[in-house]
Amino acid sequence: MDLIIRRATLPRSAAQLFPHHPSPVDVGIDDAGRIVAVEPNLAASARDEIDAAGSLVTPPFVDPHFHMDATLSYGLPRVNASGTLLEGIALWGELKPELTQQALIERAMQYCDWAVARGLLAIRSHVDVCDPRLLAVEALLEVKRRVAPYLDLQLVAFPQDGLLRSAGAFDNLKRAIGMGVDVVGGIPHFERTLADGAQSVRMLCEYAAGQGLRVDMHCDESDDPLSRHIETLAAETHRLGMHGRVTGSHLTSMHSMDNYYVSKLLPLMRESGVAAIANPLINITLQGRSDTYPKRRGMTRVPEMLAAGITVAFGHDCVMDPWYSLGSADMLEVAQMGLHVAQMTSVDGMRACFDAVTVNAARILGLEDYGIAPGCAANLVVLDARDEIEAIRLRAARLAVVSRGRVVSRAPAARASLSLEGRPEQVDFKLHRA
Ligand code: FE2
Repeated sequence: MDLIIRRATLPRSAAQLFPHHPSPVDVGIDDAGRIVAVEPNLAASARDEIDAAGSLVTPPFVDPHFHMDATLSYGLPRVNASGTLLEGIALWGELKPELTQQALIERAMQYCDWAVARGLLAIRSHVDVCDPRLLAVEALLEVKRRVAPYLDLQLVAFPQDGLLRSAGAFDNLKRAIGMGVDVVGGIPHFERTLADGAQSVRMLCEYAAGQGLRVDMHCDESDDPLSRHIETLAAETHRLGMHGRVTGSHLTSMHSMDNYYVSKLLPLMRESGVAAIANPLINITLQGRSDTYPKRRGMTRVPEMLAAGITVAFGHDCVMDPWYSLGSADMLEVAQMGLHVAQMTSVDGMRACFDAVTVNAARILGLEDYGIAPGCAANLVVLDARDEIEAIRLRAARLAVVSRGRVVSRAPAARASLSLEGRPEQVDFKLHRA
């Protein structure tokens, strides 16, 4: 063994693999960066050991929806004063001509440092292909190469200004795929008409099917209940036999749709194996902006989709960019917001929010060796929490982050020293009962 993590409490999604083993367990890792043993009191020695002391040890966080070409550009060339989607789009338009490859790479690399420190070891990032220079594509392909030893970066060719609406967008998208971008993106609700939106979905799905690629479209990111491109996306997925390889991102119009229509839509999505990604921080911020009161939340129907058997994950979408001024690569912050917005406060609901930023997101990316079981890649995070719910509540410190069997980040636990007569000297924000 190269590394053993002792006394690890596994999240429910991983613990189900070992029902005969009571938690906690030891996780043994070989020098090829693979998990080779998961069992209590592992009788082996290793070059290095970490004592998790009963803390939660989870497979890494996975962000299934991000925009790495825009991240950390906050304030360039100015801040989004109103904080609205429309000013954000205008701001991105002002920034685009000024982008340089070097600046894009530096910002993305800085973001990946934050990600690693947060235990976020796989990211699917959209990259705008509407600039014929494909500057951002080249930059993020370079970032993908640089971080490959420790972080899985999957890229989506994203025609931000519309496939049909933006001249040359489809050709640019195909060029980006030829250069090594992994996934086909789209934005049907941004085309000029509903018919154009549906046409773009068909064109992109046919192209992806022909190339054997996955699809992930920005779909129905709108408060318009008649924005129904998810129906076309699901139907095309079924027609082309792409089950399990297609994702609808955002899907916020579902929040406003007629309930009867949704009762027909959910089984279609399930039948097609179309997955869904909500972006709670961004959806709650940008949707419902033209409402007075009552004001819609705008996030898609997460618990209802989960109940229908649809894979649902949460994405971060934006960090310090034209659309969102906040964020720090913390998928527990994303899970916490999703939990609140969707009112997923049951015990199962809270655990499902943890799954939405780990195992469900990994399934959408198609990560093959994800998990804590013999044979999986040794990518894991030791959290300063006893279970998934405490992890979300505390946005727990990542005590250790292991990538490909190597410890790549360590952080101290969150503790405060008190100076109060007759009170404890320290608090750790965990519930302790006598
Ligand atoms: Fe997005």
